[in-house]
Amino acid sequence: MGHQKSRTNANWTVLSEIGPSPAWSGVALLSEKSSITSAARSIELDRRALTILRQNEWGGYTLPTRGLYPYQWNWDSMFVALGFAEFDLERAWTEVETLFEGQWANGMAAHIVFRKDDPSYFPGPSIWQAEGSELPTSGCSQPPVASSVVRDLYEKDPAVGQEYLEKLFPKLMAWHRWFHTMRVISGGAAIAVTHPWESGRDNSPDWDAALANVDPTGIATYTRRDTGHVDAAMRPTSAEYDRYLKLVEYGRQTGWDHAHITREGPFAVADPGVTFILMRADRDLKALALVLGKEGSAREIETWLYHSEEAADYLWCEELGAYAARDLRTDQPATGVSSVAFLSYYAGMSVPRRDAKLQHTLRRILNTAPYSLPSFDPEHSRFDSRRYWRGPAWAVVNFLAARGLAEYGFAAKAERIRGDTRRMIQKSGFFEYFDPLTGAGAGGDNFAWTAAMWLCWASPTTDVS
Ligand code: GLC
Repeated sequence: MGHQKSRTNANWTVLSEIGPSPAWSGVALLSEKSSITSAARSIELDRRALTILRQNEWGGYTLPTRGLYPYQWNWDSMFVALGFAEFDLERAWTEVETLFEGQWANGMAAHIVFRKDDPSYFPGPSIWQAEGSELPTSGCSQPPVASSVVRDLYEKDPAVGQEYLEKLFPKLMAWHRWFHTMRVISGGAAIAVTHPWESGRDNSPDWDAALANVDPTGIATYTRRDTGHVDAAMRPTSAEYDRYLKLVEYGRQTGWDHAHITREGPFAVADPGVTFILMRADRDLKALALVLGKEGSAREIETWLYHSEEAADYLWCEELGAYAARDLRTDQPATGVSSVAFLSYYAGMSVPRRDAKLQHTLRRILNTAPYSLPSFDPEHSRFDSRRYWRGPAWAVVNFLAARGLAEYGFAAKAERIRGDTRRMIQKSGFFEYFDPLTGAGAGGDNFAWTAAMWLCWASPTTDVS
């Protein structure tokens, strides 16, 4: 994989000697001026990260954070598995298994697995009315990082992973096949999202134009729950929320007919985030197919990968000097650069004639944000440093972007992004996301994926080479 990480046993011996801290909320953050050495500070943060994962566990799956998100979210869980893998590999595999308990008969791994109805969350299972799986779930998917995570878990210890891999492999194949059939528009290769929630980047400016074409008239009245947990200024606006619900209503009316929704629905945007993440996942799944001696599956995956360049060509925007989302209904590209533009390297996609330009764009953006990687270009008029996916930096996207950059030899930029992720967590704690101008934490606190990214990547006690 070109990205090996190891945590020395000594680190974990120290951690287990300290033991888990019972309830650390309220414990003062360690200041830069603290006399405690930075090594001890890192170990304290390691311990807190581990405690956050344990505290958000709910049986065999993990909540993104208590309160705001009381169910299992797809890509959150997969990042969390990487965190667990640092100290409990079997538990990491369980996280993947429980996510696929919500897989639909048509192959889709849902973006939320509900299992039960929790009135503190909206919109819950009674609004989605999705019946594609035995468990109640939402009706769309989320960025498919699972196969890449499964490859990491397997490579950590093939002896532990073999049986899990054998069981999960056909499920991963079915999910990828679902994307390649249900989320492409005939003749195209880039992957469409049919709801902003499917992209994992809910209110990114990437969706503004397409969302403006969704007419929210007639939606049933509703009460948001998210703004009861965190400051409304950090969340999507109510105009956006109305349209999110309109799209849920539309999907429900089609009986969650995914092919129809992609072809005819009110919203379909080619997403560089999901497209590049799936490209990488396809490559990783192909490697796993070969481990299992499944030549036929490997060949099927190759037919998917065959269209990679075409997908990248469609998403490339010369004017922006970057890959950009593109509205499949109007063919118009987004007007600004999102952080997922730089996941092309993670996808295994380097196009020499574009690289200089893409690197120039990345350099410009890094120069404008003291804490990288802003989810949207700070020089764009729609940038908002505190509002969710319209500017803030997210540890998980940072991890993916830095991994790809490192693999293509852009070591300094990869280290810059990793170092910034570390500094934001050291400064503010394990928040959902961070203001890229100040490093202040925002959104939910005690967030599982931020803790997981610390443990598997950003902590100085994790050796990435
Ligand atoms: C928000 C994020 C999404 C994440 C979910 C749970 O909806 O945009 O990416 O999966 O919260 O953390």
